[in-house]
Amino acid sequence: MDRLVNKRILLGVTGGIAAYKSADLVRRLQDAGADVRVVMTASAQEFITPLTMQALSGHPVHTDMLDPSAEAAMGHIELARWADLVLVAPASANFMARLAHGHGNDLLATLCLATGAPIAIAPAMNQQMWADSSTQKNLLILQEKGVHVFGPAAGSQACGDVGEGRMLEPMQILQSAAEVFEYQLLTGKHVVINAGPTREAIDPVRYITNKSSGKMGFALAELAAEAGAKVTLIAGPVNLPTPARVTRVDVTRAQEMFDACMETIESGCDIFIATAAVADYRPVVTADHKIKKSTEEVHITLVKNPDIVASVSGHAKRPFTVGFAAETQDVIAYATAKLSNKNLDMIATNDVSGQNVGFNSDNNALTVIWPNGHKVLPLASKRQIAKQLIELIAIRYRQ
Ligand code: C5P
Repeated sequence: MDRLVNKRILLGVTGGIAAYKSADLVRRLQDAGADVRVVMTASAQEFITPLTMQALSGHPVHTDMLDPSAEAAMGHIELARWADLVLVAPASANFMARLAHGHGNDLLATLCLATGAPIAIAPAMNQQMWADSSTQKNLLILQEKGVHVFGPAAGSQACGDVGEGRMLEPMQILQSAAEVFEYQLLTGKHVVINAGPTREAIDPVRYITNKSSGKMGFALAELAAEAGAKVTLIAGPVNLPTPARVTRVDVTRAQEMFDACMETIESGCDIFIATAAVADYRPVVTADHKIKKSTEEVHITLVKNPDIVASVSGHAKRPFTVGFAAETQDVIAYATAKLSNKNLDMIATNDVSGQNVGFNSDNNALTVIWPNGHKVLPLASKRQIAKQLIELIAIRYRQ
């Protein structure tokens, strides 16, 4: 079921008594880590209300092609592109016929035409309708088109008949849906990444910070999500959009970043990547009011902030811990020392003395060090470096 983590499932509900089971299916898909949006045909709404599905999925239910407000929020083409899988459960005989013959006469049928994602159906109908030669011909067409067909099961039916045509149980549909997706490098793993600088306030308008842009951490978050992980990104004050499929927690001060990181480690995570340039020191006191220029000398006493990555690696629920080291001299020697001092599994180091790597740059070059090994990732875009680093982390994590 790990394979459903982070996956976007467009659940189509068509008219049939089994529609009530799709309410349970929404929950189970979400419990497996999927993001679910629901589309209902007109006849599905005779069996279960859109309100029920909206309450369960936590998102408005799409019912109409020509609804201007729904189109403005997420248009049907956007919805079709959004999906990683279109899952129609229950799929009626009528819907199977329309899908087999490429009809676009309602929202769900149109979405199936417009999507590039795989389509799966869980048929549900009376046993005679399922056995009918038209339905069986449509089934063959759909299988030929590459549509995944889950079930149906045999047994007693709502109409009193006994035979093949019952929709599979939600857990069986869930299992089959998971199998549509292949295992990826980080499938089902929870990866926590901190990124960006922190700001340590001197007074209400002044603070101590550093040049970190957060770009490396954000690129790693994006690539970890693309590799199938559930990603939590704990971000200091940066001016970057949240990558797709990533849960972002915004913080300002080092202490807030520490608290947010510890909370996620407490609740369980597999890999922690510390890219944040955490301010090493903070003012002992923050002035309540703006310090006036009439003051000739200002003395600010600084105290050390907690070391977040060292606290993570020393935690009882220690995840696989990766640190970063930005140095301006003796890069490898300092980084190797940090690897052991901070009890890390891996450290990615870069030389920030030049202009074209590290802080604020779109490019980076890293030397990645772990106990008894290292690898050089030559100068490339932060996205390319992030891809290589995620691959290295996944390999070392498994070992
Ligand atoms: O000791 P130094 O700051 O050079 O180490 C860098 C690594 O330690 C980075 O991974 C950074 O995120 C982490 N760090 C931290 N908490 C601090 C300072 C650094 O987690 N207070």
